[in-house]
Amino acid sequence: MPVITTIDDLKRIHKRRTPKMFYDYAESGSWTEQTFRENTSDFDQIRLRQRVAVDMTDRTTKTQMVGQDVAMPVALAPVGLTGMQCADGEIKAARAAEKFGVPFTLSTMSICSIEDVAANTSKPFWFQVYTLKDTDFMTRLFDRAKAAKCSALVITLDLQILGQRHKDLKNGLTAPPKFTIPTIMNLATKWAWGMEMLQTKRRFFGNIVGHAKGVSDPSSLSSWSAEAFDPALDWDRVAELMKLWDGPVILKGILDVEDAKKAASLGADAIIVSNHGGRQLDGALSSIRVLPQIIDAVGDKVEVHFDSGIRSGQDVLKAMAMGAKGTYIGRAFVNGLGAMGEKGVTQALDIIHKELDLTMAFCGHRDINEVDRDILLIPKDFSGDWT
Ligand SMILES: Cc1cc2nc3c(=O)[nH]c(=O)nc-3n(C[C@H](O)[C@H](O)[C@H](O)COP(=O)(O)O)c2cc1C
Repeated sequence: MPVITTIDDLKRIHKRRTPKMFYDYAESGSWTEQTFRENTSDFDQIRLRQRVAVDMTDRTTKTQMVGQDVAMPVALAPVGLTGMQCADGEIKAARAAEKFGVPFTLSTMSICSIEDVAANTSKPFWFQVYTLKDTDFMTRLFDRAKAAKCSALVITLDLQILGQRHKDLKNGLTAPPKFTIPTIMNLATKWAWGMEMLQTKRRFFGNIVGHAKGVSDPSSLSSWSAEAFDPALDWDRVAELMKLWDGPVILKGILDVEDAKKAASLGADAIIVSNHGGRQLDGALSSIRVLPQIIDAVGDKVEVHFDSGIRSGQDVLKAMAMGAKGTYIGRAFVNGLGAMGEKGVTQALDIIHKELDLTMAFCGHRDINEVDRDILLIPKDFSGDWT
């Protein structure tokens, strides 16, 4: 067994263990993948100020996200098809998050259903919705999430239409996989994944199959999203959806100051500065580049969360020091899950927590709630001088 010390180590095992179509689904961005790449490379441009002779005892990474206690400001992001990276993936990831004390966000496009995750966990999780044309189905989805006692609703705003990821088309991505010759040949090398998958019944989009009407091929993400997602979504509809929920509402996918102001004016409890991990508009700025200006514009009006590009606890610290009140990891936990199931997600969280805690200390802080931009060295032109 190799010694695992980084998210990259988990990613290598994930790649080895998981069918190509699902690994590629996770590890890709749209079109040229420029935004996907810059989400991580832009983090590297920010440096940290080392401080010495500061008391480093009794450190804490505990804080709150939308009023809920978290062991560190890192939630698991909603990730579609998580249950294809590893059998019962959503349940395993939710359990790991629960034990660690961080929020788990279930995607609309999950394999395990809302009810199934609720039945197999003991603490409330968060639920993410895409806006769909079928308003009855939407209403039922909200009711199901309420019945499952989900403690926050994440409304994703940046995927009314699906960004093109070339690999998904080339691999013929479906859940479960369709038995084409290349898929069979690839599956033959992934026997551990296949054995586990044969032992579960959770192999379809659990929130959709049997619940949504008029869907011609619910196994295909691209055809389902083209038919079912509501391309007409606007701020009025967002406001309507927010009213359907009783608890905290988080608006996900904000990348522009004007949109951040609009989201704040609607009374969202939090916004997530996110470009969907570089999977939607290729050529958009990385999330970390736009974070400072969004915080400066609305940070005193709404809780600003961050995702896209986090691969280490240092990245979490950088986003928090810029002024974010919470972060999310997508691929970083999926790499853990695909590598080793629940244990791998726990390992991903442990790695990130350790990196966060140590880096915070090296920068002269003991409490995550007290870090600020003072610990960062941000290039003068980081936010860019764009016209
Ligand atoms: C494989 C994959 C599937 C995703 N599915 C969803 C989804 O169903 N709903 C959603 O709001 N965001 C989805 N996202 C975006 C994540 O919630 C998050 O914004 C993104 O992964 C953050 O970037 P990171 O992977 O670099 O951490 C997905 C991301 C990935 C990688």
